[in-house]
Amino acid sequence: MSEEVPQTVFSARHDLSSGGRAIAFEPLEATGETPQRRSTGLAEFDRALGGGLVPGSAILMGGDPGIGKSTLLLQASALIARSGGDVVYISGEEAAGQVRLRAERLGLAGAPIRFAAATSVRDILTTLGQMAPPALLVIDSIQTMHSDQIEGAPGTVSQVRGCAFELIRFAKESGTALVLVGHVTKDGSIAGPRVLEHMVDVVMAFEGERSHQYRILRSLKNRFGPVDEIGVFAMAGQGLDEVANPSMLFLSGREEPLAGAAVFPAMEGTRPVLVEIQALIVRLQSGATPRRAVVGWDSGRLAMLLAVLEARCGLNFSSAEVYLNVAGGYRLADPAADLAVAAALVSALADRALPAASTWFGEVSLAGEVRPVAHGSIRLREAAKLGFRAAYAPPDSGPGVAGMRQHDVAMLPSLVDHIVGDA
Ligand code: TYD
Ligand code: MG
Repeated sequence: MSEEVPQTVFSARHDLSSGGRAIAFEPLEATGETPQRRSTGLAEFDRALGGGLVPGSAILMGGDPGIGKSTLLLQASALIARSGGDVVYISGEEAAGQVRLRAERLGLAGAPIRFAAATSVRDILTTLGQMAPPALLVIDSIQTMHSDQIEGAPGTVSQVRGCAFELIRFAKESGTALVLVGHVTKDGSIAGPRVLEHMVDVVMAFEGERSHQYRILRSLKNRFGPVDEIGVFAMAGQGLDEVANPSMLFLSGREEPLAGAAVFPAMEGTRPVLVEIQALIVRLQSGATPRRAVVGWDSGRLAMLLAVLEARCGLNFSSAEVYLNVAGGYRLADPAADLAVAAALVSALADRALPAASTWFGEVSLAGEVRPVAHGSIRLREAAKLGFRAAYAPPDSGPGVAGMRQHDVAMLPSLVDHIVGDA
């Protein structure tokens, strides 16, 4: 807890309708030239940003410790610096020696980045005020910054808010693109005041399982572009590699089908990504409370789907433990995953493999209907391209695709009959 000392006392007695300056109104139509977006040098980063860095914008990047935020930003900084942009990289977290070691390992030590290990926002802004404003300013991380105008240790609510405010003001006034790295709390939200997310123009999350290679850069808020595009990277020995064509990454690559596994053609923005969903059902002998564990999907949604399978399809999961896993450390947010999850669960329960080379998508309602979802035809085409030959999807999901048999699934019970058959 940190105490916040009020600085000014507002009074309702004063009437605000006089005594101010008149403000000038401006047309929305562009008058001068519109500022150009600047490429980060990483196409996947640009894609997640909606087409590159907007000058004067503030970006907040959150992510678990060790996921690769500093690595990604160092790589982007080096690429921008090499293409002639002026980049200032301030690390409050690591000493110069550590960052230099990493840059050497990444083969970026020669890039003309202006690097400093500093934590005082006054020092940083004073220094920046004495030079031409850089194209990009990276602050790693906002929780380590400190303002001598505000009481409290770095990382406290008022410090984080105050430092971010000053840095964002500098960005807006100078046209510098600003990236603030933000720590995340245990539940995955960015640590510090929620108001930080309101103050910045773009909020990005860098996610993935640390034990897996793949990392996904997602924008959660973007004042200058769509929020549904992702950037996909792979953490390798020499930093992050871009993955331009991620549609195959999250498949197991196994030939013969196994019980409890279903392939789902997910959509990430405009790109399809095929992912394998795995379910395991373990019958309990004793009366212990059965566990439900989910990795990569929403546990509330799993509970809902189990309830629909029980209430509408007559299946019984009540005395069984249910485990659900999305392969490859991928996190699914697409509601169209419902049907694939249901198929994996039913297949695991019946201990019957799903038809070979089949994919599943559709949203399931509480009544057990399977509802159409967006981008049906893109999903079908991508699945066909990767060698899948059957698609189970709601009716009217898209025109036929050569080599792909489409099975219309309108209601969940008919799907259960189809999978379980006479078992
Ligand atoms: P880092 O960028 O320091 O993470 P963050 O800033 O989000 O905390 O990434 C650190 C992890 O990345 C570290 O655990 C090791 C891994 N890594 C590699 O696998 N290869 C590399 O070339 C680098 C630089 C890091
Ligand atoms: Mg870091």
